Amino acid sequence: MLRVGMLTSGGDCQALNAAMRGVAKGLSSNVEELEIYGFLDGYKGLIYGNYRLLSSSDFSGILTKGGTILGSSRQPFKLMRTPDANGLDKVEAMKQNYYKLNLDCIVILGGNGTQKTANLLREEGLNVIHLPKTIDNDIFGTDVTFGFQSAINIATDAIDCIHTTAASHNRVFIVEVMGHKVGWLTLYAGMAGGADIILLPEIPYDIKKVVAAIEHRTKAGKGFTILAVAEGAISKEDAKLSKKEYKKKQEKSPYPSVSYEIAAEIGKKLGSEVRVTVPGHTQRGGSPTPYDRVLCTRLGAEGAKAILEKDFGHMIAMVNNEVRRVPLENVAGKLKTVDPNAQIVKEAKLTGISFGD
Ligand code: F6P
Repeated sequence: MLRVGMLTSGGDCQALNAAMRGVAKGLSSNVEELEIYGFLDGYKGLIYGNYRLLSSSDFSGILTKGGTILGSSRQPFKLMRTPDANGLDKVEAMKQNYYKLNLDCIVILGGNGTQKTANLLREEGLNVIHLPKTIDNDIFGTDVTFGFQSAINIATDAIDCIHTTAASHNRVFIVEVMGHKVGWLTLYAGMAGGADIILLPEIPYDIKKVVAAIEHRTKAGKGFTILAVAEGAISKEDAKLSKKEYKKKQEKSPYPSVSYEIAAEIGKKLGSEVRVTVPGHTQRGGSPTPYDRVLCTRLGAEGAKAILEKDFGHMIAMVNNEVRRVPLENVAGKLKTVDPNAQIVKEAKLTGISFGD
């Protein structure tokens, strides 16, 4: 009998179900006796022993279904070693629940924080397989994470829709794109949507350069400008602040996010109104794209293969377009950011896109 646990942790994305299905089908097609236990609401389920035995019907019809059939929650890695309100040792509790069910392995789907906890559980002696999920695409050691391509589609759609109204009204528009501290999603959606200015956390902007780029377009007879701004975009001045100082500044800011601050600054300098659109969590919703469905099926299949070979402690990743097992200890805690000198950034600049730098 093979007993496998599964959980999805952190912010959801479109392709979590597709990835779980990939693992489940990979296992059930190759072993006679199999039990898959789904822990509910992320690590919370593993800590408090909330789980259910999943059957093959749970994995049917979910390839195209967004969200997660197991539910998810954020359980910050930095608090994992801190006992809960009732003094429960969370790490010990997770280990106990794993052993109580006599699991051979636990498959953990999630982003960076989730991966750090997965690695911690590995260090604690549990057999772990991690599948890299996040619309942010910021997991080190994999070319791509699942959810990223699906989110690009939605963010691009948002920019496309803004394009027509921006053109009708001759206005400056900002579309704020998710991505946490990195700019992958903004870079790709911005380029796909034909944004004129793309502002990323990795390339701090100078507001004067941003305004100059808008004026340059106006002089060239272009009545409107579209900015794709990452939610983590930062000005050159703010980038000089310490993390603590910047956090304090943000807390005191009258603006709900950096895009509104940029809009106000542009508005002041140009004497015109600037509109902000925030697609927000829509970027994590809906069905996975065909690319993500295939990616998840491939990662899931390799995850199943690793389990069958009892080869644990890995993230199942895409490396140079091939599915690979990457040791968790080599990647946990590292962030994959956009290189300001990357070819794609240079190509974008060549086509006239301003990064405000
Ligand atoms: O990590 C995925 C993500 O959607 C980020 O892009 C974003 O910053 C964050 O999660 C939002 O988190 P929450 O859903 O907790 O608001």
